[in-house]
Parts: sequence; C-alpha cells; structure tokens
Amino acid sequence: MTEYHKVKEELSKMRGKWLVTGVAGFIGSNLLETLLKLDQTVIGLDNFATGHQKNLSEVQGLVTTEQWARFTFIEGTISDLETCRKSCSDIDYVLHQAALGSVPRSIEEPLLTNESNVNGFLNMLVSARDAGVKRFVYAASSSTYGDHTALPKVEETIGSPLSPYAVTKLVNELYSDVFANTYGFKTIGLRYFNIFGQRQDPNGAYAAVIPKWFAGLINNEPVYINGDGETSRDFCYIDNCVQANILAALAEDENVLNQVYNVAFGERTTLNELFKLIRERVSTLYPQIKEVKSVYRDFRAGDVRHSLADITKARELLGYDPEFSVAAGLNRASDWYLNNLK
Ligand SMILES: NC(=O)c1ccc[n+]([C@@H]2O[C@H](COP(=O)([O-])OP(=O)(O)OC[C@H]3O[C@@H](n4cnc5c(N)ncnc54)[C@H](O)[C@@H]3O)[C@@H](O)[C@H]2O)c1
Repeated sequence: MTEYHKVKEELSKMRGKWLVTGVAGFIGSNLLETLLKLDQTVIGLDNFATGHQKNLSEVQGLVTTEQWARFTFIEGTISDLETCRKSCSDIDYVLHQAALGSVPRSIEEPLLTNESNVNGFLNMLVSARDAGVKRFVYAASSSTYGDHTALPKVEETIGSPLSPYAVTKLVNELYSDVFANTYGFKTIGLRYFNIFGQRQDPNGAYAAVIPKWFAGLINNEPVYINGDGETSRDFCYIDNCVQANILAALAEDENVLNQVYNVAFGERTTLNELFKLIRERVSTLYPQIKEVKSVYRDFRAGDVRHSLADITKARELLGYDPEFSVAAGLNRASDWYLNNLK
C-alpha cells in the first residue's frame, strides 16, 4: 500500500476543513473533486479570472448530493485581504492555487500578474497565519529553475528567472521561507512541472500546449510548435499533482515542512513526440487527422529549452509515488477532451 493510499484511508475517516483557492480553475477543481469524494469539507475561493463556473458544475455532477453540500464557494479575489481572511476562517488546510499562470501573459501584463501572484499570495499568507491554519500548501513552479541548464532539476539548484511569472513564483518561495523563520508558519511549496488533464482550459491566447493541441486537432485547426519541436518538458498528469497536494497537507514529520518539492512524473517528452502521442489518440475518433502535420514557428520568449525533474525528494520525504505516466495521463485526458470538445 502506498503512502497516498494510507493517507486517503485516514482522511476518509476524519472530516478536515480545506480551503482551495483557484477552485474554479484546472488544478483547483481537480483538488475539489478528490477532497469531496473523500467526504471533506471544502471552501473554494475564485474570481473567475481564468477559471470557469462549468468546472464547478462538472465536479458537482461527479460527487453525491451529500458531498456537494460540504462545499461552499466564495467568489472574490485574493487581492483583497478581507476576502482572504474570511476564506481562511476556521480552516485546517490551505491548498493555494489561485494565480495568473502563463509566461507570455506575464511578459505582456507584468503588473496584473504581480497583483495576484505576489500581493495576493502575501494576503493569503498573512490571513492563513492569523487564522492559525495547520498547513499552507502552495503552487510553486518549475519556472523557478530559470536559466539554469542542468538536468534533471534538483530543488536546491536554481538559476535566474526568465519571465515576470517566474519572478512571482520565486517570490512566493522566499516569502514562505520568511514566514516559516519569522512566525513559525508551516508551509510546503510544490514546484509543478507542466501539469495536464481534465478541465485544463483549451481556449484563449494563453492556453497550455496539451489542451490547445487536443482542441486544434479535434477542430481541424493548425497546430503550431514553437521552435524546432525538440524542446522538452516533464509533463505530469493531474492526479499525480493532486496526490502531492494531499500528501503535503497531511505530512506529519516536522523535518519535511517549510521546503519546496518538485511535482512531476520524472520523464522528458519533446514537443515533436507529444504531438504524435496526441495525434494518435485523437485519430481514434477522427481517422482523417492521422496524417496531419504540425506547423513550426519561432521559439517563444521566456521559454526554457528543456525541463526534467528529479522527484527523489518528494518520493523520499513525502512518499510521493506518481501513478500516471505521460501516456496513461494522455489516455485519460484524451477521453475528456474528446467528450467535451466534440
Ligand atoms: N498547470 C500547470 O502546468 C502549472 C505549472 C506550474 C505552476 N502552476 C500553478 O498552479 C496554479 C493553478 O494553475 P492552473 O493550471 O490550475 O491554472 P488555472 O488558470 O486553471 O487556475 C487558476 C485559478 O486561479 C483563479 N485566480 C486567478 N487570480 C485570482 C485572484 N486574484 N483571486 C482569486 N482567484 C484567482 C483563476 O480564476 C483560476 O480559476 C497556479 O498558481 C499556477 O501558477 C500550474
């Protein structure tokens, strides 16, 4: 039995009170689904900047009426301290996901990104500290490795940030350290590496590559690869990410707290390989796209060339054991995209 199975079993016997910020987004709504299925009480905070009501409605359809009744939604922004305070009241565990993602958005709108990702983050830290929450788990990012080229990425060795987004995520880590040292506050940062899966938004200028390509192929639109396609990423299926959050929230050993952990699968896939994997899956339903080719265009500013995580630290200290490979995750994501984008 893995650590995650043990923790889930324990969790199903207790009724914790969780706050998930960014609950209407991709990762937040998946955390909500898992927590409600484990009969937990969940408060969700979101301002619908990039999240959607339909994600919440979908979760409602996947849980029982009784489980859904344990969810309270607060529409509001983490830029407002009072909203954060209200959301943190009486909470045991915070899973802080709310932020404006996307490197290109941050290059175009650094002030907007900073407002949610730094000011909003600090509001959440202060509110969670004052409310006396047991644990504050937050979404950090692989972008923190910046211009450091060594592979695989190990937590202690980072480079300089390559975008405003990366700066904000590094600042989150710095503030969390200071809150640990100054106030004895208990945090864990999870450096996500290209998370993908059901409910990741395929629309909009800043959509992530996997949902964008599923949508492009299903709708017969050109699929663009930035650069020569040999850029690589450590794509990680959402259920692995949910696992890391729950393990981090419930970890009991004091020695594992106030640190950051890579959350990835631990394998590298190039964009060219990824395109073939997605095309293969979409062509099971749309055989005409079997021969469709991707369109190459310029490299994108702020993108790192390669990314691959060393996940030893999360494995050893948190008991993280990612259950889904990229291929297995793509199969499940594909089922969802084919059903939802048809
Ligand atoms: N998806 C990935 O691969 C990835 C990788 C690294 C880090 N992250 C981080 O994980 C977190 C979740 O990302 P996601 O992929 O689910 O993105 P998402 O855009 O689907 O979800 C983010 C959610 O936060 C909400 N939000 C944004 N600003 C807010 C504000 N000021 N107040 C309240 N809510 C606000 C949005 O409306 C949205 O619902 C983010 O912090 C992101 O930076 C994601």
